[in-house]
Amino acid sequence: MNSQSDSTSPVERASLRAYVDEVERRRHVSLAALTALLTTTDTDVVRYLFDRALSTVRLHYGTSVFMRGLIEISSYCRNDCRYCGIRRSRTTLHRYRLSTADILRSCEEGYAAGMRTFVLQGGEDPWFTDERLCRLVEEVASRYPDCAVTLSMGERSEESYRRLFEAGARRYLLRHETADPLHYAYLHPADMSFDHRMNCLASLKKLGYQVGCGFMVGSPGQTMETLYRDLLFVETFQPHMVGIGPFVATQDTPFADEPNGSVERTVRLVALLRLILPHALLPATTALGSLHPLGRERALRAGANVVMPNISPVSSRKLYTIYDNKICLTDGVDHCFSCLQGRVGGVGRQLVVDRGDYR
Ligand code: 5AD
Ligand code: FES
Repeated sequence: MNSQSDSTSPVERASLRAYVDEVERRRHVSLAALTALLTTTDTDVVRYLFDRALSTVRLHYGTSVFMRGLIEISSYCRNDCRYCGIRRSRTTLHRYRLSTADILRSCEEGYAAGMRTFVLQGGEDPWFTDERLCRLVEEVASRYPDCAVTLSMGERSEESYRRLFEAGARRYLLRHETADPLHYAYLHPADMSFDHRMNCLASLKKLGYQVGCGFMVGSPGQTMETLYRDLLFVETFQPHMVGIGPFVATQDTPFADEPNGSVERTVRLVALLRLILPHALLPATTALGSLHPLGRERALRAGANVVMPNISPVSSRKLYTIYDNKICLTDGVDHCFSCLQGRVGGVGRQLVVDRGDYR
């Protein structure tokens, strides 16, 4: 960002601030407001946007920041998303699947560090049939009755989501990736369906899950209009969580030579999401921390209230390369915990031992 831009006149600055007030009041962002607030170089206005977002999160969640222990349970994936480092065409990648014992060990370490939510994430791995995944969820849920079990295992049938809910899963993360069908078709091969993904999100919500959607910022082909659609989708869908992170160009994928997404733009979008969904759980994502050493801190200052430390076994972390230059590949749970405690404390907030349910 430039230092306060001399090119902004007092009148322009007032109208930009009025856009921020309008988003906050209407919980809606117009295309004009979005364009203006994502492109302005006026640091005063951007600070105002972040301040409004921060007051909003404080109102509903105080200074608490919730932890979600992320366990990357399988790097096998049957899909071929063009941006993703674990796409099935990346045949050079060594694939792994954690054993139940590995997963339970990660939970144990995470629990000891104060985590009360476990996120089981993986590629769309057909080995995880409903029977196997339900058994795993039951095992984790029964050992940790005071914790929330979150799944992030991609698109499944409604029946599968229903059985997993019965097994004890209460939250599901499935980023919509883009709310524009044409853009979706550009990011994904023809065997993936925008409608199916959107139907999955609707099913999850109907079944009673706390649902997280989300998108990458700066993915190839993204425009102001596609971002506008993402925000409109969020307004109407009313998810409990929204995960956004910058697109990171990744080796051996069709988008390897595309530019990375902008950290600044991602952080401004976090602030807009906070104003649109005052009660949402918004993570300061690892992708932000991977592209900028203070990316996660900046998201927290812009209204994020969740961090997702990786608690996977260190030996498998470097194999779960959904994007290049991912951080925390060699650090154990305790290291990440104290690192995050310092980062969160550094921006005047506290990591709390709490499931961090939607309020
Ligand atoms: N850069 C940034 N984020 C990515 N994801 C997948 N590939 C990339 C990439 N190259 C995100 C997707 C997916 C989530 C698990 O990670 O949004 O839903
Ligand atoms: Fe893992 Fe900082 S969060 S080292």
